[in-house]
Amino acid sequence: MVDDEPGAATTFALRLERYAPELDACLRAVYGDAAPALIERCTAMMQSAFDARPADLKVLDEKRLLNPDWLQRPNMIGYVAYTDRFAGTLPGVIEHADHLESLGVTYFHLMPLLKPREGENDGGYAVQDYRAVRPDLGTMDDLVALARDLRGRGISLVMDLVLNHVALEHEWAVKARQGDPKYRDYFMIYPDRTMPDAYERTLPEIFPDFAPGSFTWNDEANGWVWTTFNTYQWDLNWANPDVFAEFLDIILFLANQGVEVLRLDAIAFIWKIMGTDCQNEPPVHDITEALRAALRIVAPASAFKAEAIVGPSDLIHYLGTKQHHGKVSDMAYHNSVMVQLWSALASRHTRLFEVALSNFPPKPANTTWGAYVRCHDDIGWAISDEDAQGAYLQGHSHRTFLSDFYAGLHPGSFAKGLVFQFNPISNDRRISGSCASLAGLETALESDNDGMLRDAVARIMLLYSVVMGFGGVPLIYMGDELAMTNDYTFADDPSHAADNRWVHRPKMDWELARSAADDRSRPAGQVLAGFKHLTAVRASLPHLHASIESRVLPSPDSRLLLLTRDHPEGMMIAIYNVSEDVVELPTYLLRDRLGAIAREAISGYDYSLEPAILQVRPYQALWLVQHS
Ligand code: GLC
Repeated sequence: MVDDEPGAATTFALRLERYAPELDACLRAVYGDAAPALIERCTAMMQSAFDARPADLKVLDEKRLLNPDWLQRPNMIGYVAYTDRFAGTLPGVIEHADHLESLGVTYFHLMPLLKPREGENDGGYAVQDYRAVRPDLGTMDDLVALARDLRGRGISLVMDLVLNHVALEHEWAVKARQGDPKYRDYFMIYPDRTMPDAYERTLPEIFPDFAPGSFTWNDEANGWVWTTFNTYQWDLNWANPDVFAEFLDIILFLANQGVEVLRLDAIAFIWKIMGTDCQNEPPVHDITEALRAALRIVAPASAFKAEAIVGPSDLIHYLGTKQHHGKVSDMAYHNSVMVQLWSALASRHTRLFEVALSNFPPKPANTTWGAYVRCHDDIGWAISDEDAQGAYLQGHSHRTFLSDFYAGLHPGSFAKGLVFQFNPISNDRRISGSCASLAGLETALESDNDGMLRDAVARIMLLYSVVMGFGGVPLIYMGDELAMTNDYTFADDPSHAADNRWVHRPKMDWELARSAADDRSRPAGQVLAGFKHLTAVRASLPHLHASIESRVLPSPDSRLLLLTRDHPEGMMIAIYNVSEDVVELPTYLLRDRLGAIAREAISGYDYSLEPAILQVRPYQALWLVQHS
């Protein structure tokens, strides 16, 4: 029992009293006999991180404890960018903060910026030092200053935390290569192919093109090293409690620099079990809950976002099920919505979207989705055969259709994408390409056709309307707000040429941003104005609080997607037309739920639902809300 006067020591003791049981239980579940010593070590680390936590962050902690739903609020608008591609350096970012503010951004994810290995580094996901910033971007002090400045503007800084692997030049891997047994045990290194072969029987390949297999021979280490991703990214052995302790220390360090959300990169992969695909194994969730509990004790202002690009039945565990319900990551990417958006746009058909979303288990009410259209990665067609069947489709042929469509191979396709990681065995083809190019803008610009241009802009707006109206943090991927098309110059850079994901990682075009701000005659200006409007509308709608789920209202017309949000302040129904046709929707469906007159929040107009039919324009998005 804690019954001291309030003060720092009491605060820490109270938090420990509240969350240490979670930390203990999870560490015992994973580390068994090694847990007590680890818990003691973690407690000491938490105490010293708490003592070192800057005063302004401690104030933020208290604010967040008073506003525990901060990540769920409708005013949360995300923006995702590479520091160098957005602004050159960390100090340079602030010069462009007005752009973020004009978009209503409150959540700013700067892509990997910790010191990576030199040369190829998977876009920074091969980290050499977690306590240093990539030298050409700035210093740790610059990061602290940036986080503080952004915070002053109401923008939370989000950063990657690569948990599954380190660069082979990371100090731990260097020591392991030198034969230090302590550090060899940080990795999984096997003397011959026996174990790698046994594991590989059930392991999928992540980068079959440029990094086939999951193990890499290393002469110095004199063994086969587990490398799920690239050969220079060494998987960590999370079964070793030292690895847990190292990462807890790193997490608390980064939180104390002012990082408010940590994106847990490739979290699905951190626990390996023979005979499985070594993804989503239950200990992953114990480990996450233990780390989260420690973060709640030291830095309750900070949160976790899971980067688990996995199927729906696996994904939900990252937000917490059963004993982990609501206690693991606060946020997770909704990969399925992203995939279904592109699928619906290509097929002009929303049945599969309806089926997939209806089969999605509900998430804990205190968590939120990260809803997105594009990110720095490729699009994999994560559509299950069962969902496809439920929409009278054949999974494999629909996935083939989508790859063909977005590679621009399907007759009549508007898209310009590139095939990423063709897997000849499964015939799997993922797709790279920017939102605008995949939505038809590049094709339209080449044909100089007004109708095609209009459709392409409308598609971009439709895609983003869905994620802004979905109820999680919408994530604007840098350049999408200016409808930036593919950047084919990536092929000129030898460290990028082999990885065509760089086609959709352009340098920010600030000239275009300036001209777009007051020129609505061109796509960039139209999209930018549209985004600013949508984010402002979104921020004003209580219905979009993430504690409420978007639910499918089966649509009588397969070209429309209807989503309801049953909020205490009134019902909201979003209507999205994924086709270039005018579609007639019978209004009784809406009238029953919204009454005779509803407000359409995007236009601000009242809509009478008395007439029997509502005409939905090509690619139109409507957010109808009940009058109070
Ligand atoms: C995540 C990143 C991806 C990277 C991989 C390995 O999936 O988003 O870009 O290649 O992790 O770190």
